Amino acid sequence: MSLWGGRFVGGSSNMFRRVNDSLPFDQVLASQDIRGSIAWSRAICQAGVITDAEQQQLQDALQALLKQAEQGSLDFAASGEEDIHSFVEAALIEQLGDLGRKLHTGRSRNDQVATDFRLWCKEHVTLLRTDLKQVIEALVNAAERHSTAILPGYTHLQRAQPVRFPHWCLAYVEMLKRDASRLADLSQRMDQSPLGCGALAGTTYAIDRQAIADELGFASPCLNSLDAVSDRDYVLELLFAASTSMMHLSRMAEDLIFFNSGEAGFIRLGDSVTSGSSLMPQKKNPDALELMRGKCGRVFGSLQALLVTMKGLPLAYNKDMQEDKEGAFDAVNQWHICLCIGAEVLDSLTLDEQRCAQAAREGYANATELADYLVGKGIPFRTAHDISGQVVLHALEQQCAIEDLPLSALQAICPDIGEDVYPVLQLEYLVDKRNILGGTGKAPVAAALKHAKRYLQEF
Ligand code: ARG
Repeated sequence: MSLWGGRFVGGSSNMFRRVNDSLPFDQVLASQDIRGSIAWSRAICQAGVITDAEQQQLQDALQALLKQAEQGSLDFAASGEEDIHSFVEAALIEQLGDLGRKLHTGRSRNDQVATDFRLWCKEHVTLLRTDLKQVIEALVNAAERHSTAILPGYTHLQRAQPVRFPHWCLAYVEMLKRDASRLADLSQRMDQSPLGCGALAGTTYAIDRQAIADELGFASPCLNSLDAVSDRDYVLELLFAASTSMMHLSRMAEDLIFFNSGEAGFIRLGDSVTSGSSLMPQKKNPDALELMRGKCGRVFGSLQALLVTMKGLPLAYNKDMQEDKEGAFDAVNQWHICLCIGAEVLDSLTLDEQRCAQAAREGYANATELADYLVGKGIPFRTAHDISGQVVLHALEQQCAIEDLPLSALQAICPDIGEDVYPVLQLEYLVDKRNILGGTGKAPVAAALKHAKRYLQEF
């Protein structure tokens, strides 16, 4: 039976039920809805709407339902109810008769759904922060497994300057740290309780909204009833955090897919996170990484979809807002899965350090170093840049590295070049010379790694 049948003569069409019913997806809010209902039963008891004994009976029945919800034994499909709120209420009425019918006094599904969904988002923020921590840990561990490895760094996907592998890992650590701080930040804004705001205008009963907020673990009540029932900023913020973090995971996946390619051959991935080809027996494909990249589409899509849904809605609640859930449930779930698999991929990864170093030596990545060397000899940088370019051109013609050219050849281009140029052109030397805060030299990377480990301890 629906919650609103009184003023209707005819029933709903089957197609209307299909477009309107949200129980098939909002059933995941069962435990939040029941906990909200327990808090509400206490609030209306305090307000004198029901007696202590009645409140106790409601609470006992709701606790039993909560247990079933947690065990996954509630039969949603058989109930034929419209949404999770009517499902819980119908279950109460079935058990308690008229007492069950008292619970909804002064409450609306509008403040109810806003409360349930905020609770759900808050709980998932906590889970997702733990997931992010695990990926950060996996990056730090990978950095420590290959603490001295050097690989090419790229701009425009052209070999640019060599970097230490831990420096690459720690770049993603920085991104994920921002993702975690975004969650901490947005969770403060979503930490307000809508319950007691009614359908849109507040309620006439003497409800202690702060007590409800305290009981449900919210910092405070929402301050405007119109806003409280129609605000979905907290979902949007969560979707933006999910999208940004998925973008980070996707870039990491893209780097690793490239590192794993036959052409680069820098890393090997574990069997546990790769798959084979049904046709080509030799193949080992980086599917987990491709899916981390691929799942961005639907997560970004959910953010865009909700922004568009919300943009034209007049105050206060409109049924359009029921569309807030499926995208958010999916986005959060995909983000969670991608963080978990991201950590697994990183744990499974090994670096071919020799091949990385070889690639870092190729591609004239030490040309900037040669220019800096010439600056040290008193040549203006712009001129030094030009000379170094000529040296690269000559080496290309000779099909060798800069450091393989004889001194006579270098001096033919620039007489200021001496024997002392050769150590400068060595890989380790030029990497470790970037000895500045945030740079890829051995010392700043070691310091950054220490910093990341302290961050994890204090997380
Ligand atoms: N299932 C609805 C939703 O998710 C619950 C709120 C319904 N409110 C209403 N006035 N019909 O938005």
